[in-house]
Amino acid sequence: MESLTSKVLTFLRENPEGVSGQNICDACNVSRTAVWKVIRKLQEEGYEIEAVRNKGYRLLSAPEQVDEAEIRSHLHTAWAGRSIVWKEVTGSTNTDAKHLSEQGAPDGTLVAAGTQEGGRGRMGRVWQSPKGTTISMSLLLKKEELVPEKASMLTLVMAVAVAKAIAELIPEDQAQELKIKWPNDIVLNRRKICGILTEMTMEEFRIRDIVIGVGINVLQEGFPEDIASMASSLYLETGCKIPRAKLMAGVLQHFEEAYEVFSKTMDLSGLKEYYEAHMAGIGHPVRVLDPRQPYEGVAQGIRENGELVVRRSDGTICQVYAGEVSVRGLYGYV
Ligand code: BTN
Repeated sequence: MESLTSKVLTFLRENPEGVSGQNICDACNVSRTAVWKVIRKLQEEGYEIEAVRNKGYRLLSAPEQVDEAEIRSHLHTAWAGRSIVWKEVTGSTNTDAKHLSEQGAPDGTLVAAGTQEGGRGRMGRVWQSPKGTTISMSLLLKKEELVPEKASMLTLVMAVAVAKAIAELIPEDQAQELKIKWPNDIVLNRRKICGILTEMTMEEFRIRDIVIGVGINVLQEGFPEDIASMASSLYLETGCKIPRAKLMAGVLQHFEEAYEVFSKTMDLSGLKEYYEAHMAGIGHPVRVLDPRQPYEGVAQGIRENGELVVRRSDGTICQVYAGEVSVRGLYGYV
C-alpha cells in the first residue's frame, strides 16, 4: 500500500509552486499533524521543503536517494511498478521477484534494491551493483499473452525503454552516442552503462512469469582498471548526476509504452525502426561468439523476432538468436 510519505512527496512534486497542507490532508484523509510529521521526517532526510504560513509547502530540493516513496513520487504508469518492493540490500532483485511471484505478487511488481550482493548477469556472469551509485531493478510480468517463444524479445523491448529513458535525462548532443548493443546492453561512448537479464519460469506447460532485470551504472566515479575501457557510468560519460529514482520511473514509463506497441503484434515490428536507429555496430564488422563455431560478418539489423541479422563474407545471411551468444565489434567491445 502506498505510504503517506510517498503520497506527500508526490503532492510536492506535482505542485512545484507549492501545495496547501489542507489539500494534502483532504486528499489523503489524514490530520494536519500527520502531514506535518511527514514533512519533518522528509526534512530530516535532507529534503528542502519551504513551509509558508497560510500558503503551504513547497519542495525546493531533494537528496539523491532511492526508496519506495522516491520512486513512486516520479511514477506515472498504469501498471508497471504500481506495486513496489524496495530493499536496501539484497542478493539479486531478479531472484527476489521470482520468489515474490511464487507467493502471488501481481503483474507489474517492481523489485528494486540499493545494492545486490549476488547480482547476476547474462551467461552466469556476476553483476556488480555498488551502493549509492547504481540502479538494480526487476520488473515482474505475468501476462496471459506471453508464450515462451516471445520471452526473449522482451529484453529488446526493455533495451528500447532504457535507451529512451536515459536519452530524456542527458543533454541531446550526448544522447547521440547512446546505443543499444544487441541484444541487451546499453552503451554510451562505446562503454557499457546498462545490462538487462530476462528470466522466465515455467509452470507445467505455461509461463508462470517473466522477470526483466535492469542494472544501470549511474553515479560511479570510477571503475577498476581491468574493465574501465569497457564499462562506465552515466556520470563519467556525461558529467550529469541523474537522480536514480527519476530514471527508474522513466524506464518503467517507457517500458509500459514499448510493451503496448509490442503487444499489438507480439513481435518487434513496431520497435524495430527505433532499435536499429540506435543499434551499435549496425553496418559494421562483428564477431559472433557462437559457442559451436565463432564467425565474422557485418551486422545488418534485427528481425521482427529479435534475432540479429549478420551477412557473412560469402554473402550468406545468418540469424543470431540471443540465447547463449555474444557479439563483439572486431575492433573492441562494441
Ligand atoms: C548483463 O549485462 O549481463 C545483465 C546484467 C543484469 C543486471 C541486473 S541488476 C538487477 C537484476 N538483478 C540481477 O541479479 N541481475 C539484474
